[in-house]
Amino acid sequence: MGVQISPSILAADFADLAGAVERIADTADWVHVDVMDNHFVPNLTLGLPVVARLVEVSRLPLDVHLMIEDPDRWAPGYAEAGARNVTFHVEAARAPVRCARDLRAAGARAGMALRPGTPVEPYSDLLPEVDMLLLMTVEPGFGGQEFLELVLPKIRRARELLRAREGEVWLQVDGGVSGETIERCAEAGADVFVAGSAVYGAEDPGAAVRALREQAERAASR
Ligand code: DX5
Ligand code: ZN
Repeated sequence: MGVQISPSILAADFADLAGAVERIADTADWVHVDVMDNHFVPNLTLGLPVVARLVEVSRLPLDVHLMIEDPDRWAPGYAEAGARNVTFHVEAARAPVRCARDLRAAGARAGMALRPGTPVEPYSDLLPEVDMLLLMTVEPGFGGQEFLELVLPKIRRARELLRAREGEVWLQVDGGVSGETIERCAEAGADVFVAGSAVYGAEDPGAAVRALREQAERAASR
């Protein structure tokens, strides 16, 4: 699959989400949609009705990142609404294996997310159950935070764990990913890059996506 870019509309104008999606539709691979419930994280964004509507207007597939309690109950609904990828936090899931299987059964790719302080090794046996591992490079909850360097060794260890499943399980990073940090993430082994402020804070979001992709591709081939 190579490098994929998934811009986060958390950094876009919430009064014009359709326009925000359109601005990156020619250069990005996914649209990253951050669902927050004010419980798992101290912030509240949007939920199922908005995601269902975005599925209808977006030319790109939706990459939904659930930062919510009880994903076991709520995650499959996002897959049923047409989200192509649905990622839940392992810290919030009661039964991550069942949650991942429910997502796949509903027709989506299943993603499993880890906060910066959650080690990957205890979850290595779960990797065959998921299509993507998301390693948060900030504490989830807000855009525009500083990239946490301390996650880089975990990205490298996760890439090692995924060696046997090369290409099958994608490795996503989310939080503080920008022109300053994306090369280090790619060198460490990430292949799907979420970027909010680095894309929507730019004059031309579509061009920002293109530039990030070039940087990541260059770094990945080193
Ligand atoms: C944060 C969200 C991110 C956020 C990233 O909890 O999961 O997707 O939008 O924003 P930036 O790229 O600005 O750090
Ligand atoms: Zn996110």
